[in-house]
Amino acid sequence: MKLKRRDFIETAGFAAAGLAMAPGLALGKAASGSKLRLGFIGAGLRGTWHLENSLKRNDVDVVAICDIDPKRLEICRGHIAQAGQRKAREFGNGDYDYRNLLEVKGLDAVIISTPWLWHTPMAVDAMQAGIYAGVEVSAATSIQECWDLVNTHEATGTHLMILENVNYRRDVMAVLNMVRQGIFGEMIHYRCGYQHDLRAVKFNNGQQPYGGGVEFGEKAMSEARWRTQHSLKRNADLYPTHGLGPIAAYADINRGNRFVSLTSHASKSRGLHDHIVTEGGAEHPNAQLKWKLGDVVTTTIDTANGETIIVTHDTSLPRPYSLGFRVQGANGLWEVDGNRLYIEGVSEPHKWDDADAWLKKYDHPLWQKFGDDAEGAGHGGMDYFVLNAFVESAKRNIPPPMDAYDAAAWSAVTPLSEVSIANNGEVQDFPDFTRAKWINRKPYDWIKNTW
Ligand SMILES: NC(=O)c1ccc[n+]([C@@H]2O[C@H](COP(=O)([O-])OP(=O)(O)OC[C@H]3O[C@@H](n4cnc5c(N)ncnc54)[C@H](O)[C@@H]3O)[C@@H](O)[C@H]2O)c1
Repeated sequence: MKLKRRDFIETAGFAAAGLAMAPGLALGKAASGSKLRLGFIGAGLRGTWHLENSLKRNDVDVVAICDIDPKRLEICRGHIAQAGQRKAREFGNGDYDYRNLLEVKGLDAVIISTPWLWHTPMAVDAMQAGIYAGVEVSAATSIQECWDLVNTHEATGTHLMILENVNYRRDVMAVLNMVRQGIFGEMIHYRCGYQHDLRAVKFNNGQQPYGGGVEFGEKAMSEARWRTQHSLKRNADLYPTHGLGPIAAYADINRGNRFVSLTSHASKSRGLHDHIVTEGGAEHPNAQLKWKLGDVVTTTIDTANGETIIVTHDTSLPRPYSLGFRVQGANGLWEVDGNRLYIEGVSEPHKWDDADAWLKKYDHPLWQKFGDDAEGAGHGGMDYFVLNAFVESAKRNIPPPMDAYDAAAWSAVTPLSEVSIANNGEVQDFPDFTRAKWINRKPYDWIKNTW
């Protein structure tokens, strides 16, 4: 039934309107009578951002919201009322009430923004219910979960999109444009990572989401309630996709290329303990805890096409934010730190160019077209584009830019790095989640001005 409804959406509106049609902004560009009926599972800080951005679109009907915290439901109710939209159905009756949301008549798609351990179970249930699923990062926490995403997608034919917003960052997309145009020559090496001082995210006082105390778990709120536990229990790259998603797009991972193996190493763990002592005192009970997560986790990935990728996870030490991108080919490279770029034959030999002029010259067509609309959507505009890609793909019921195979391959870095670290950097093979389909799958057409 649901598939039939989406078929109707496609024939009635969007296919006829053509691919060049602008995304359905609040400017009245979407075909009438063809709205995506969207639900939200998890309406914490992230889910609410997606909700607010969805409410700005005229091609989305927010029909249902699920969160186990009544306060979050109330906040969503306020946003929906403020946007002048019809009240959404609400589900807040325990951890599995989201399954009732998935049964809402006419629901087309769902955005899952819950704690990590819920991502795969919820995405699997959504796909089984025939609901187009968007899942926040990372998508999976174990190799079994990675397979669950792929197997369920293949068994049901329902699509899954991993909502990796960094793939849509303006500089990241300009560099993608340069990679596609061969400016760097044949690609050789990449670096990326999640280098973000999360100490005030991992601990708070239960009254505010960031800092003000050194509590986590039940006594804390938002991410400190669940995310911090992973630092206590796992020594791994816990959050690989913000860095790896863009690199996977550059390298056509799962589309003519794939991650083959990795090796990982972790430094000692000091940052979280020191933070607790500094902010809460040496007598605070949390100062007795032994944190498994090494402060700096370094992973090196080999690809089938012979590139190497160094991925860094660095979330427990004082440092300014950087995803640490380096994109290097036979003819030159871009480094985000230092905002610098070098292209042989164009740049002065052995001297860096300021990257600004290059990034402007190769500004991605999407940003050229929708940069103004994207402003204010969150994270420098990239949240607008990731939601746009999800909505446009779901409306047409077509494969998204970042699919179940990508969700699996990128997320697999967490469990694989964990085993490698525990075995002194032993090489771990990536499962081939495409079951050899990567050989013939065509690269995604990233360079277009639609989504
Ligand atoms: N892409 C990005 O830039 C970005 C930014 C922030 C967070 N995230 C990701 O988004 C996800 C959510 O993060 P957040 O910051 O919103 O965390 P959060 O803790 O603020 O929100 C999580 C919400 O899920 C709800 N929840 C928990 N279990 C549930 C269940 N069984 N059913 C329904 N609701 C349930 C909680 O009540 C809470 O409101 C995480 O995976 C995080 O990694 C991504």
